Order: sequence, then structure tokens, then C-alpha cells
Amino acid sequence: MGRLRNKSALTILCAVAILNPFLFYSCRVTFTFIDTAVFNGFTHLILLLMLANTALWIFLCAKKTVSDKSFKRLCICGIVFNALFVAVNVAFAVAGASELHTYYYYFTRELPYIGVAFLTYFTLLVLPDIKSGAKKAVSAVLTVSVLVSLISVGFTVGKFEFTSAPVVFITDDPETYSVVWSTSERATGHIEYTYNGIEYKIYDTLSGNIRSDSKIHTVSVPREQLDGNTYSVSSQRVWEHLGYSTVLGKTLSSEKSTLRAYTEGAELSVTVFSDWHDQEGRAVATANAMQRQPDLFVILGDPVNMLNKADDISESILFAAGEISHSSCPTVYVRGNHETRGEYASHLLGHLGIGSFYYKFSWGPLCAVVLDTAEDKADNHTEYGGLAAFEPYKNEQTKWLENTCFDDNASYKLVFKHIPDAPESWDEPLAGLGADMMVSGHEHTAKINPPDARHPYPTVIDGGKTDGDFCGTLLVFSGNTASVSFYKRAGLVSEEKITLVR
Ligand SMILES: [Fe+2]
Repeated sequence: MGRLRNKSALTILCAVAILNPFLFYSCRVTFTFIDTAVFNGFTHLILLLMLANTALWIFLCAKKTVSDKSFKRLCICGIVFNALFVAVNVAFAVAGASELHTYYYYFTRELPYIGVAFLTYFTLLVLPDIKSGAKKAVSAVLTVSVLVSLISVGFTVGKFEFTSAPVVFITDDPETYSVVWSTSERATGHIEYTYNGIEYKIYDTLSGNIRSDSKIHTVSVPREQLDGNTYSVSSQRVWEHLGYSTVLGKTLSSEKSTLRAYTEGAELSVTVFSDWHDQEGRAVATANAMQRQPDLFVILGDPVNMLNKADDISESILFAAGEISHSSCPTVYVRGNHETRGEYASHLLGHLGIGSFYYKFSWGPLCAVVLDTAEDKADNHTEYGGLAAFEPYKNEQTKWLENTCFDDNASYKLVFKHIPDAPESWDEPLAGLGADMMVSGHEHTAKINPPDARHPYPTVIDGGKTDGDFCGTLLVFSGNTASVSFYKRAGLVSEEKITLVR
């Protein structure tokens, strides 16, 4: 009993009881799956029990007058609950290993509250009982902790660096590219190049303001000025953008890159990667295994699991696209269902500098229609919590499709859409387009579907993240033949030639 009444033991057990609900709540992104499997509100019931356990331990620390018998019984209950809830948190961490970075993000958002909880606990229950010598040491530790917390909240202290190489996105405007890159801290952004003897320096601006509030930098550039041209991008750190002054920091400049331009008559190579789901390292390794610089790189949806913050775009989309395209070929963005998820999802379009996720584009001998299949379940599905209105959006695309056609002079006519079979209402207008091929992802199985009644054209499905590896697709068009090669990190998996029926 003496051991349990020991202040150090009580402090450690109470600290565990305080941390448990915070750690559990950091995993809330997966609560909906647990509730669906057990019953609605199950995870919040666990959270309530954890908070009750925290209250129990604070009671045990505060009440010195509880009889030894009652104290012992309550302590045993508390220890059992502590152990059980630690096991629950470990189970969530192990089962949701692919979401650990998301759990960590939500945990960092809770840090100020955890700090307040511990500070209150120490001030009220621990500090009064500490002998005078130790009290000074504890006070010093608490003071330093509070100062460090305040400084970290008030100032950004991270290293300033590029977090992605520049990515040149094809846009819905046939006349422009959108050049996008990211930095570790808020900064300005501009691109520099020379065209027809004139030096250009174009900033990321909004209504005349040079943007200072973003880690992602987006500049619109005329296509004809960048095709085959050399360019570099720069960013200057913005410490403060005040009403009447600014505090600016270091300037970073990228290496010079040269954007490919199509050589008339050459074969056309297109690298298509979908579904790497935050495993950008695997996607980059697979691209390296191809040992080929393509003419175009296509992100075919689901590079992330969800978008909670700007860094998710930098890390999983821009970093991968910068490495795979080497900033030297245009990149096409096709939205998957997972980019519609999370509180930062609605910012993606603006950061990419395109006006719509469904559009038509031409590049060299290629004309392509890009469609946005959006979410893969009905709008009223519980996962979307009432925040989905994709049915009218898909109907809008049906109307757009009915009034869209490929360029007559295009040698290759492709359709890119993330989910191959949905929605059915697009089947008829898509069949009427006369596409040579449709390219999709989503299924996590690399394959080629021959033409059928619903899809009167071959459908290539990229593999994406699969079996602890990643499978990407290389398409090479020459004459009336398309070569379809699937690669994993170790190299070529299969190659098949398709004769395009005209
Ligand atoms: Fe998907």
C-alpha cells in the first residue's frame, strides 16, 4: 500500500491516465470504421471511459483521506483500466500503421491541451508536496517548458528548404502551364527564364499581391514560352508580412531544368502512376526502375489517403511528381477519390493552378479527356458525414462530355479517369468520343481489359500500391500501336502491344 501511496508511482500512473485519451483521440480518423463494425458511438464510449479513468487517478492523487482499503481497490481498478487503454492505443497504432503520420498530425494539434493538462496537474497536485529544494528544480523545468511551448507556438523555427522540385502541370487552359513547387516554410515564389531574348521573372501573385502565406507556390506560364526552354524557380522565406513592413529571410533557387518539347514524328511515351497512397518512395523507386524519361507523366489519382494540410500535397504529390518528372516533362493531374477527403481537400485545385478537375488537353500528337470520378460511394455514405455532393457534379460532367470531342488532327486519343467502371451514365458519351484507349487506376491490380459492350476501347488499369510494392505503367505510342509495360521497383513485370483500332 505504501508503494501505491508513493507520490512518484501515483504521478506516473496518473500521467498514463492523462495521455491515454489524447493518444486515442489522435486516432479519430479511423473511428468511423470501428463504429460501423461494432455500433455507432462505440469509440466515443471508450473515450468517455478513458476520461473517467483520468478523473479517477486525479481523485486518487488529490484525496489523501481515502481509507487504505478503498484506496487499494480504486488503485487496482485504475491500473487495470490504464493497462487496458494502453493496449487499445497500441492496437490502433499497429492496425492503422499506414495512418501513423495522420495520427501524429492530430496528436501535434492536441499538444497545447496536453501541456495545459499536465501543467494543471503538476501545479495543483505535485508542486505543493515537493520539498523546497526539489520544488525549485521542478519550477525551473516547468518555466523552461512553458517558454519553449510559447516560442514554438509564436515563431516558426524549422529549416528553410525546398520540399519538392518544380512540377509543370498541364492545365485546362490550352495556352498555359502551371509551375508548382513547395518549401518547408511560408515563402514567396517566382519562376525565371529567357524567351526570345527577353528575361522573364513571374511571381506567384493574387490580385497583385505577391503571395506570402503559403508553402506551396503556383505560377502560370504561357506554354509556348516554356516548351523546350530552360527555367528555374526561387522562393524567399517570409518571416512576417505586417501591415506596414515585412521581415523576409533567405532566398532559395532551384537548379535549372529544361522542359521537353515534342519532336514531330517521334514516338510518344507516357508514364502513368496511380494509387501510391502516401507511399511516394515506392512510386519514385518504380519510376527509377523504368530508366526512361517520359514525354508526359500522369498522376492518375489517389497519391494520398486524405488531405488534412498543405504538407500532404507537398510530400505525397509534389515531391513525387518533381522526382518522377525531373521537372523536365509536363505532368497531368487526374483526381482520385481519396483527394476528396480531409479538411484541406478543397485547396488542391487552387494549388495545382488548374481551373477544373475535368478538362481536355492536347500535347504533341496526343489529345486526352480527363474526367473526375470523385468519390466511389453514394453521397449519403457514412464516411462522408453529409459533406458530399458528387452526384450533381458527375451529372455536370455528363453534359460536358456530351459536348466534347477530340481534336481531329490528334494521332492518339485517350481518356484518363481514376475509377474505370463508374459512373455508368458516362458510358454512352464516352463510347461516342471514339477514344483509342482509356487509362484508369483505383483497383490496385495492373491489367488490360479488352473492349466490351460498355467500353468499346481497351482499358489499361494501373496497379498502384500492391503487395508491399508499387506497380506503375509505361505507355509508348508509335504508329497505330501502343506498348503497355507494367513495372515494379525491381524492374519490368510485363509488356503487351495493343493495335489501336481506328
Ligand atoms: Fe481510388
